[in-house]
Amino acid sequence: MRSIRRLGIFTSGGDAPGMNACVRAVTRTAIAHDLGVWGIRRGYEGLIEGDFVKMDGRSVSNIVQTGGTILKSARSPRFFGEEGRQQAACHVEEAGLDALVAIGGDGTFAGGALFHDEHDVPIIGCPGTIDNDLYGTDETIGYDSALNTAIENIDRIRDTADAHDRLFLVEVMGRDAGFIALNSGIGGGAELVLIPETVTNMNEIKERIHSLMTAQTRSSIVVVAEGDELGGAEKLKRELQSDGSFDEIDLRVCILGHTQRGGAPTARDRVLASRLGAAAVDALIDGHDSVMVGLVNGELKLTGLRGVGRRKKSIDYELLKLTQVLS
Ligand code: F6P
Repeated sequence: MRSIRRLGIFTSGGDAPGMNACVRAVTRTAIAHDLGVWGIRRGYEGLIEGDFVKMDGRSVSNIVQTGGTILKSARSPRFFGEEGRQQAACHVEEAGLDALVAIGGDGTFAGGALFHDEHDVPIIGCPGTIDNDLYGTDETIGYDSALNTAIENIDRIRDTADAHDRLFLVEVMGRDAGFIALNSGIGGGAELVLIPETVTNMNEIKERIHSLMTAQTRSSIVVVAEGDELGGAEKLKRELQSDGSFDEIDLRVCILGHTQRGGAPTARDRVLASRLGAAAVDALIDGHDSVMVGLVNGELKLTGLRGVGRRKKSIDYELLKLTQVLS
């Protein structure tokens, strides 16, 4: 088993509340094991450019409660070219880094797996994305915070929708997955939820909204994932209004967008991030490599980095049925 003396840590892809708590846990666990820690700024971009900063216990003080990421984040198309990875490998060698901990989503892990295969650098992934779309963990770091932000905002929209007897189409994030939409829809009492995992049947949707708006309630909320088959709330609005059948319905769109990515992490995300950050360092010390640490049914679980991208985490279809029963 190769010995690890120095590790590099970075956050990559879309930021997520709780990434800082994870950076803190990795740094402090590593220091507790007498390992040196280097922070890599802006994800793979910083790896390519050698933008490294030495971390100590104090560099991660007072961040467990903050959103964003002190290491900054980026999406790095350059790292998907061989030249970019070659440059990154040179910087890793120069800095004497024996291993990397990557906090991010499936794109981050795909890059990490490639880097590991080509340059034999041990890498462990921590799942950090608000989308919760990673196989190998029940929840990703940031998901619970984003979900709570979405629900808080839906509650606010409900007030004004009710005051004006309006139909609101609320768009939440989720390019390929409907976890935020489905669960914020249930928690926010939405009348309808549209997610990427299901086919969008416009006739059914129109009928359903008409029956809702003419029944006991005159206001309704439809939660739409940005990656829904139609492509989000604005497109849904155009479709609904295309044949004149919605002329009588007062309709508004609200896109929650990046508000869901910011803000303080929830207690649940802070604890998850702390556990997974510590587990990542333990996994490296135990000789694991090219795996993501996750929590499944409360137990720590390791999944090969490539397996995370290849397998899709399914939404709970029972929850989808529940939205229909409860609306
Ligand atoms: O990866 C999470 C995510 O927030 C998606 O839900 C969203 O589609 C995407 O990132 C937006 O990315 P960016 O901030 O780079 O536009």
